Amino acid sequence: MKKVLITGSGGQIGSELTLELRRRLGGENVVASDKRNLSSGPLVDTGPFEVIDVTDVEQIATVAGKYKIDTIYHLAAVLSAIGEEKPHLAWDIGVNGLYNVLQVARDKKCALFFPSSIGAFGPSTPLDNTPQDTIQRPVSMYGVTKVTGELLCDYYAQRYGVDARGVRYPGIISNVTLPGGGTTDYAVEIFYAAIKTKHFVCPLGAGTFLDMMYMPDAINAAINVMEADPKKLRHRNAFNVTAMSFDPEILYAEIKKHIPDFKMEYDPDPVKMCIAQSWPNKMDDSCARAEWGWKPEYDLERMTLDMIKVIGGKFKKGLI
Ligand code: SER
Repeated sequence: MKKVLITGSGGQIGSELTLELRRRLGGENVVASDKRNLSSGPLVDTGPFEVIDVTDVEQIATVAGKYKIDTIYHLAAVLSAIGEEKPHLAWDIGVNGLYNVLQVARDKKCALFFPSSIGAFGPSTPLDNTPQDTIQRPVSMYGVTKVTGELLCDYYAQRYGVDARGVRYPGIISNVTLPGGGTTDYAVEIFYAAIKTKHFVCPLGAGTFLDMMYMPDAINAAINVMEADPKKLRHRNAFNVTAMSFDPEILYAEIKKHIPDFKMEYDPDPVKMCIAQSWPNKMDDSCARAEWGWKPEYDLERMTLDMIKVIGGKFKKGLI
């Protein structure tokens, strides 16, 4: 049986990936960790929880040794807009944190999942049908940390044989834990606004196309790339994966089909706009499809329907 450690379990992806891995592998085989000491809630109720600050290599090594960990999903990160406010923190967690995790993975012979991002691309990248292997000159600190992370993972795989794998995630849409400080967060916030107040001020302008994905597909991507047959992986790390591409107008129109009196206006945030315009409009994810069978289940229509159902349900129960 696998023994898994997840860093950043309290975050948007970590909170749902931890519970899904516990469902599949058994609660005691999946150790949740976060910088914050979570004293209650599903993460501490369904299996072991440890405090880990990924900038402290000893903390990672101690927990990995204590539970005899063989696989690490490293999700602790600072997203793109916060990265522009706090570039030092973005570097420390994004690069030094990953370096520490790679060192532990090397010493303890763990496989590693590292999430890169659409943020690893920049304005000189072909932004339509962005190829798997292309120019990567990002203009955000977040992007700089993601490109560095991709290179570090490749290096540890080639030099030390660490089984480091990963994907380049697009914006992730979800309804359990809110994202924090990302450029793509609007595509989550819009649903809460549509249901709670029927009014949303969009921080990205009309025509800003970005790749997106619903959480169940994001979780499957992480688990499936880690379970893929290594003989079939030509890339191993940083696979482009996407499920849909839209701009705020398209998402607004889709939500209005269900909530006709919903109103959206624009007040573009210059930092987020600068970042978003440097990211792909739509990635080509054919390498992930060919090498390990990537196939998303949710398109815009299905995702929107499910988001409205789940968030609407929480609103009716007074939970949000
Ligand atoms: N969702 C991330 C962000 O907006 C992109 O990977 O920062």
